[in-house]
Amino acid sequence: MNSLAASRHAQRLQSALPPVPALFERLRSVLSEPEASAADVARVIECDPAIAARVLRGANSARYAPASEVCSIRQAVMVMGVSAIGNVLIESGLARAFAHLSADFDLEGFWSHAVRTASSCRELAALAQARHVDPEQAYATGLLHDVGQIALANADPSAYGEVLDASGGDESILLEVEREAFGLDHAAYGAWILRQWRLPESIAAAVERHHHPELWTEVEPLERLLRMHDRFDEAWMSGGAEQALATRENELMLLLDVPPDLYEQHLEERVEFARTWRGGLP
Ligand SMILES: [Fe+2]
Ligand SMILES: [Fe+2]
Repeated sequence: MNSLAASRHAQRLQSALPPVPALFERLRSVLSEPEASAADVARVIECDPAIAARVLRGANSARYAPASEVCSIRQAVMVMGVSAIGNVLIESGLARAFAHLSADFDLEGFWSHAVRTASSCRELAALAQARHVDPEQAYATGLLHDVGQIALANADPSAYGEVLDASGGDESILLEVEREAFGLDHAAYGAWILRQWRLPESIAAAVERHHHPELWTEVEPLERLLRMHDRFDEAWMSGGAEQALATRENELMLLLDVPPDLYEQHLEERVEFARTWRGGLP
């Protein structure tokens, strides 16, 4: 696995790094205060009307099904919890950082894959009994796992366009061509970006290894969860439900101590979600 430092394109890739989303930085500094309250978090969110609107929409969604309508950001923070709010900031920060990408890059397809993978990781994490994986962290990991792709396309749109053409949709070829063109692949570049943004190391490590199962020296549930659902969604995109269901990993089910019937139900539900859910970022 090549690192950014070893890449002959290091300087270009370093200077193309999108800045840390400002609101994310502010939230981090609020949360570093031991006495931080829901009202403090709400004050950060309220500075950005677009994000505030997304947070309110999220808190009122079927996922949280509040007993009565959530009308204030402070209430929304309490309903959703700080990790889920953090994920809204990550989604918005990423969407803004890469909003101006050239029209040749399939932005909607990129986000669809990211959101489907993220949502599947979160759902299975929530079913895990033996090993605790924070469902919201699992969501963030799924959402961010291919951030290196969008960032390479941002650093050099025409070179990345050629990489995509040359790979012809085959992922193992994609990684190789990325390394030829940029000196590192999207997994390594994505992990570097997440470390620069000071996101949790467990997320960066899972992203770094998501195409490198040979590096799974320890049984790391977050990495396994991500890889399974990444493969699941890729299989679904290329071959539909049957191929997606064939990516089931009984070993993962045992690792997470998810009962077999619940695991099968989870996979069926993910197929249904993929079938019915459309669009980019929710
Ligand atoms: Fe990937
Ligand atoms: Fe992926």
